Amino acid sequence: MNLDSTFRSPPDVSQLPILHVEALVKSKDGIIVRTDLIRDGVTKWLLDNFVALSIGQEISSFGGLNESYAQDFDSILVIECSGGNLDTGAYRLQQVELDVQAYQLHTQPEQQSSQHTQSLEGPADESDNDSRARILVLPSIDLDGLWESLQFDLPIQSRLLSAISRMVSFSVQRLGKWVITWNRLILIWGPPGTGKTSLCRGLSQKLAIRLGKHYPRSKLFEVNAHSLGSKFFGESGKLVGRMFENIESLLEEEDDTFVCVFIDEIETLASRRDRALNGNEPFDAIRAVNALLTGLDKLKEHPNVIVVCTSNLVTALDQAFLDRVDIKQYIPRLAARPVYKISKDCLEELGRHGIIEGACFDVVQITPNDPLQYVERPAEQLILPSFNEMILHYKTFPNAIPKLLADAVLESEGLSGRTIRRLPALSLVLYSNSARYDIRTAIQALRMGIASETQAKAEAMVEEHSGATRTNGQ
Ligand SMILES: Nc1ncnc2c1ncn2[C@@H]1O[C@H](COP(=O)(O)OP(=O)(O)O)[C@@H](O)[C@H]1O
Ligand SMILES: [Mg+2]
Repeated sequence: MNLDSTFRSPPDVSQLPILHVEALVKSKDGIIVRTDLIRDGVTKWLLDNFVALSIGQEISSFGGLNESYAQDFDSILVIECSGGNLDTGAYRLQQVELDVQAYQLHTQPEQQSSQHTQSLEGPADESDNDSRARILVLPSIDLDGLWESLQFDLPIQSRLLSAISRMVSFSVQRLGKWVITWNRLILIWGPPGTGKTSLCRGLSQKLAIRLGKHYPRSKLFEVNAHSLGSKFFGESGKLVGRMFENIESLLEEEDDTFVCVFIDEIETLASRRDRALNGNEPFDAIRAVNALLTGLDKLKEHPNVIVVCTSNLVTALDQAFLDRVDIKQYIPRLAARPVYKISKDCLEELGRHGIIEGACFDVVQITPNDPLQYVERPAEQLILPSFNEMILHYKTFPNAIPKLLADAVLESEGLSGRTIRRLPALSLVLYSNSARYDIRTAIQALRMGIASETQAKAEAMVEEHSGATRTNGQ
């Protein structure tokens, strides 16, 4: 066959990068507003009034915007540009497609009384029922800010969000089910304490916002995998099956709702069946995996659902489960840049609350012939330079606060994100007695905290190793 003769030039599809703008609409006494109308109004207003917008730009004056809308906003924020090659900087509106997402935050607590979680209740063990699943209406006030608090060295978040939201919008078009056979199943895996659970919850929130124009309502259905391992022999498979029936009935009743099913630590439900068959694990585990696979296969018939899972132990996962996963995302241990950013955020938060005194830092050169000088000044707020600024300007000053913070970051290698986030405040209460600290004392305390955690970790490893040697020697 002559390929040249069959080749057709691609259709003229708009290839413009998409600039995402989030418009947070005030929540007033549970009144639900027409976010679709607001979205169109804001899009037109932005196009009429702005030539360019920058990533991170917050718009707070709304002159010329329809009066009734203008009072409704908490904020309009330029989030990111997918398909563009700039992370920061301005985008001319003529050169992008504008995607305004207007949304309200739901204050509604977990729907524990929801019929879908209620029907999970089996007469056998009433006490465990509430803990098997929780449903959260999205976007939720409980998850606000979580996505932004996460730090990764690579653009993992924007890539995941963009791929999954496009996956769902493709599915809205009801692609032929025998032709396009993806499962919309995502696995986030990697070492503990790196932000996997938080990433999945944050992802559900951001997807709900971004998919608002396809699905006006969204829900997070969070399955507690551990609670499905029943204490009654043979029960687990049934519980897993019942869980999926409940998800399906939610999808059928609310086919205009986007549902994000989240199963944390999936290894509890999807452990390798070959190992179980070889005798060590109870037969019940095999039934649970079978029920999980059957459940997943049924869910994929519904275009309005995705399933996100996490695992610390990917080698323990069943092959048939892994084979169904469409997107596998590895989350590495935290690198220096994210650790620096988390520590900076924590110290600045302590500064905002007056626990650490305000200060600002600079590197100056009085005349072109003078050497560079490091300057530290008291200020109203504590503002630490970014990681890039630290590398560029402060690295050569061994006693500069930003350099001392960078040293602390290097010393914390190997600690989890969970530990990194708690150490700045914890070290203050453990290693110092005052009610208010200067930043130098706070960083000294932080370094003591890091040293103590690192030592405890090393001791635990030695203990584990000698335990293993003892067991093998027996
Ligand atoms: N990459 C990260 N960026 C910011 N904070 C993080 C990160 N990883 C972990 N944390 C902090 O540690 C806590 C626990 O993270 P979690 O999402 O439960 O990790 P995992 O599920 O990988 O064990 C989070 O609440 C967060 O405060
Ligand atoms: Mg976790």
